[in-house]
Amino acid sequence: MDIKALLAKMTLEEKASLCSGMDSWHTQAIERLGIPSIMVADGPHGLRKELPLENPNDPVNTLEAVCFPTGGTIACSFDRDQMRAMGKALAASCKAEGVSVLLGPAANIKRSPLCGRNFEYLSEDPYLTGELAAEYISAVESEGVGTSLKHFAANNQETRRMTVSAEIDPRTFREIYLAGFETAVKKGKPSTLMCSYNKINGTYSSENHHLLTEILRDEWGFDGLVMSDWGAVNLRPKGVQAGLDLEMPTSYGQNDAEIVKAVRSGQLDEKYVDLAAERVLRLVYDLLPSPEETAVFHREQQHQLAGELAKESLVLLKNQDNILPLNPSQSIAFIGKFAESPRYQGGGSSHINSFKVTGALQAAREICQIQYAQGYQTEADETDEALLQEAIRTAQQADVAVLFVGLPDAFESESYDRTHMSMPQCQNRLIQEVCKVQSNVVIVLHNGAPVEMPWEPSVKGILEAYLGGQAVGQAEAELLFGLANPCGRLAETIPLQLSHNPSFLNFPGEGDRVEYKEGIFVGYRYYDKKELPVRYPFGFGLSYTTFEYSNLSLDKTQMKDTDTLKVTVQVKNTGSRAGKEVVQLYTSSLPGHQKKAIRPVQELKGFQKIHLEPGEEKTVTFLLDKRSFAYYDPQLADWNVETGTYQIRVGKSSRELLLFQNVEITSSPRPADPLTMESTVGDFVEHPQVKQLLLQAFAQAEPGKTFEELSAMLSSSYVLQTPIHTLCNFDSHITLDLLRQLVEKANTLL
Ligand code: GLC
Repeated sequence: MDIKALLAKMTLEEKASLCSGMDSWHTQAIERLGIPSIMVADGPHGLRKELPLENPNDPVNTLEAVCFPTGGTIACSFDRDQMRAMGKALAASCKAEGVSVLLGPAANIKRSPLCGRNFEYLSEDPYLTGELAAEYISAVESEGVGTSLKHFAANNQETRRMTVSAEIDPRTFREIYLAGFETAVKKGKPSTLMCSYNKINGTYSSENHHLLTEILRDEWGFDGLVMSDWGAVNLRPKGVQAGLDLEMPTSYGQNDAEIVKAVRSGQLDEKYVDLAAERVLRLVYDLLPSPEETAVFHREQQHQLAGELAKESLVLLKNQDNILPLNPSQSIAFIGKFAESPRYQGGGSSHINSFKVTGALQAAREICQIQYAQGYQTEADETDEALLQEAIRTAQQADVAVLFVGLPDAFESESYDRTHMSMPQCQNRLIQEVCKVQSNVVIVLHNGAPVEMPWEPSVKGILEAYLGGQAVGQAEAELLFGLANPCGRLAETIPLQLSHNPSFLNFPGEGDRVEYKEGIFVGYRYYDKKELPVRYPFGFGLSYTTFEYSNLSLDKTQMKDTDTLKVTVQVKNTGSRAGKEVVQLYTSSLPGHQKKAIRPVQELKGFQKIHLEPGEEKTVTFLLDKRSFAYYDPQLADWNVETGTYQIRVGKSSRELLLFQNVEITSSPRPADPLTMESTVGDFVEHPQVKQLLLQAFAQAEPGKTFEELSAMLSSSYVLQTPIHTLCNFDSHITLDLLRQLVEKANTLL
């Protein structure tokens, strides 16, 4: 389709009409020119396609579909291939149902465990987030279905999400809240992004030119379309100029009229409307479903896949006395409503109408006899004594009691945040009471975000199932009975208590202002820097086998920041059964006199999941580049690697790194900052030629002082951090005029 020619035929009103949806889920068609509309639908872990209503007052009904593990769960697979497999399945369902853009992945950073949408988000770490989001995007897009990377950017809470301003310093914004999006855009190449509701440093994302044009397009090279979150538009003409192409959902022509009015009045240059309309047209014609589309939505197949993905993602947190895997010959009790009807997804726009759900009880009874007791109800956080007593009896009579507990729907969802990290008290009490009568207790958790675990010391096993999708019960049964070997790793830290979390003092902020005062110290970056104990660390997860690491080697030990570094390590399965290991690589900037930037202790910069048969050994290779070592320097407005020593750390989790190797990195020369009268003496003498200039000038001005005395003066820590203009207070011979001349001469030597 010749988009430019089509655009040339359009009136201003028609172009403006393209800049908003036709309804909640379709772009605007233009009959006069034969321009069709395409459909978008949520995402991100299943197809949520709204069905036409018989009459407008009917409750919303959505297509029966397949609910995969939510983002927060599948991120624990630490496996690009799993993300890819889910993406391809999602694309197939979209094609079968005529959906052109899937509204996902959701890639916001988990700043606080309280955020109601953490179940949809991937991680507290931007590297893991970016890598997995990129894989999801490229998988879906490779099938000819568009994605909408969301919510761009800094949508890290639900409290007042449509009006709150996220106050973030430039370095934190780049390193933590944008870096995942940057990787996802550059590597995944999404057709669209969805801008977030919130403001960033006082400007709505939906009209934030710095965000949507300067960073996203000019710097990152994004050439697709930006749509708004539903109802995120504030001033539509300002948004068009900022780079927001499509308002969703429709505003029934009202904001289109605002665009026309702004152009007619000279407030808005029509070229911005042309740009936005052109991007909408490109999206429509690029993603128009082909009429001969024969894709079929294989629900049963995808249900199986959902179970496989969950198996790869669930995290074994504790396995004391090897209580797991269970033995079918044991007398086993499953306690808890979530065993029969698991909580497997979150509330809000991502909620999928699952065509079927497999609970652990149903799946386990395919393996052996299981005693069951409901244990609690989820309608309210109140103990049902009868259920409790029945659960205690059932647990007492068994060899092992497996308690399926976690957060009911009411505890966490899109549109509100939690105010605490506790599980329902009635469930904590159930666990406590059961532990009094049964020493072999295993906990299976269903929760979209971390919970406090006061009962942890009393139980022998903990399997974190997060919100594992509609087939989570199948995965739980296979993992509990050892038919599959757990291989998930935590994509977020589980703190001992909420108040340990770095955002605790500033979440969710005050009114419409939330300050990210913890800066870059989010998640493990904080807990590691503060050397805080945690319940379970980032990257942690157990297996039913063991792995050994050896021979960490680098292909160089000296490099420039523009070089790449090849890292290899050998990993061996030293146990008696096959398993998968997530080999993690962190980089650490070791302290050095030339280094000024405050850095986290270490940062994840590589991960690979490998399958190993018993006794099998593999070599894992990582390729690192500048961004593996860099921090964002706002003064330079660029990523920077300071000259000095860096350490490569490889291991099983952020708190279990096993092998270390150092590399010396020399930073590319950058133009030195100009020297002024306010520059410190240290700023001057770090340039050898300038130091000589000062010594000569001072020797002339002060013949009574020896060279050594002057050198000593220029090396004292007190003088080094003194602004140079202050030297006139030290010595009457060092005049302001002399200093001004020196500043001028010194700058010619830089
Ligand atoms: C919601 C969500 C967004 C979703 C959109 C459409 O408010 O924030 O993730 O895709 O609206 O349902």
